[in-house]
Amino acid sequence: MTRPAIEAEGLVKHFGDTVAVDGVSFVVPEGSVLGLLGPNGAGKTTTVRMMTTLTRPTSGTGRVAGHDILADPAAVRRSMGLTGQAATVDELLTGRENLRLIGSLYGLDARYIKRASDELLERFSLAEAGDRIAKTYSGGMRRRLDLAVSLIATPPVLFLDEPTTGLDPRSRVELWEVLRELVSDGTTLLLTTQYLEEADQLADNIVVIDRGTVIAEGTPLQLKDRSGAAALVVTVSNGPDLAAAEALLRPHVREVHVDVGARQLTAPAEGLGHMTRVAGIFDESGIVLDDIGLKRPSLDDVFLHLTGHRAEQRPDDTGDETTADSAEEMAR
Ligand SMILES: Nc1ncnc2c1ncn2[C@@H]1O[C@H](COP(=O)(O)OP(=O)(O)O)[C@@H](O)[C@H]1O
Ligand SMILES: [Mg+2]
Repeated sequence: MTRPAIEAEGLVKHFGDTVAVDGVSFVVPEGSVLGLLGPNGAGKTTTVRMMTTLTRPTSGTGRVAGHDILADPAAVRRSMGLTGQAATVDELLTGRENLRLIGSLYGLDARYIKRASDELLERFSLAEAGDRIAKTYSGGMRRRLDLAVSLIATPPVLFLDEPTTGLDPRSRVELWEVLRELVSDGTTLLLTTQYLEEADQLADNIVVIDRGTVIAEGTPLQLKDRSGAAALVVTVSNGPDLAAAEALLRPHVREVHVDVGARQLTAPAEGLGHMTRVAGIFDESGIVLDDIGLKRPSLDDVFLHLTGHRAEQRPDDTGDETTADSAEEMAR
């Protein structure tokens, strides 16, 4: 096995009576991507803040690139980059100036900073916007600048806290591309997300946390299997008898759920081949279908399966983020 780039060992964090993180452990092998997946308030940000030495664990510890977060926080900070949940770029500086500022805070050589800034601006499609102040950037551009800034010191380990939250779908896909490139260049990545799809797209391994504890972990495939995998959804067109369609389908699936109003039959899917086989059976039967497809499990489905409750906000949450979220919601 490759040596671990990130290790969390029984991390616990209390804020007064609130137990934000309640014994979280995981290992991220060098050069791989860990997705820390969980709903709002699960303890993702607190875990990242402990691992990046921004907040001290109540108990437990961790290592980044072999350095202990308690014993040697300065070495940890030198080995990692962090992009937080809220953008940290200085809005009144240009993209290039933001890079230069952070580069000099790291004590990097001015010529190196200039060259690295050019490369990063290019890589994150910000070359043209590099001399405009960040205030004029779109949300996606700010996120990319944030990421570029956290890479100026070329850290081997990168922590990203919900890197695509608030981005439009296109910027999200673009950012995923950039992250894949980074990983293929050898960076170890820990990213937090509320979205199964994002973890699925990027992560080699996923740790699911809820209420401060790890409730599941595995590869994206393993997790989806555990959540009942995808559903096969057959929509029967108006003419034919729904019961006849159900009778035809029943021998080929484990169980069928019938929705009379929607004229839909839903069953656990066993892969693409299964779907095409079922489509063939309907073709031969003369029962006309409007649609046949696979519905993939959402994070909600995974959560419901793993925890028995929906991945929703706990009513007793009081974190800053929660307040910011509800303020945003009220403004909408
Ligand atoms: N500084 C803090 N003071 C008090 N409670 C906090 C603080 N930071 C986080 N919490 C609480 O800890 C829990 C986990 O929060 P957080 O780590 O931000 O979760 P996530 O990032 O998964 O949304 C929440 O209940 C939150 O309200
Ligand atoms: Mg968070």
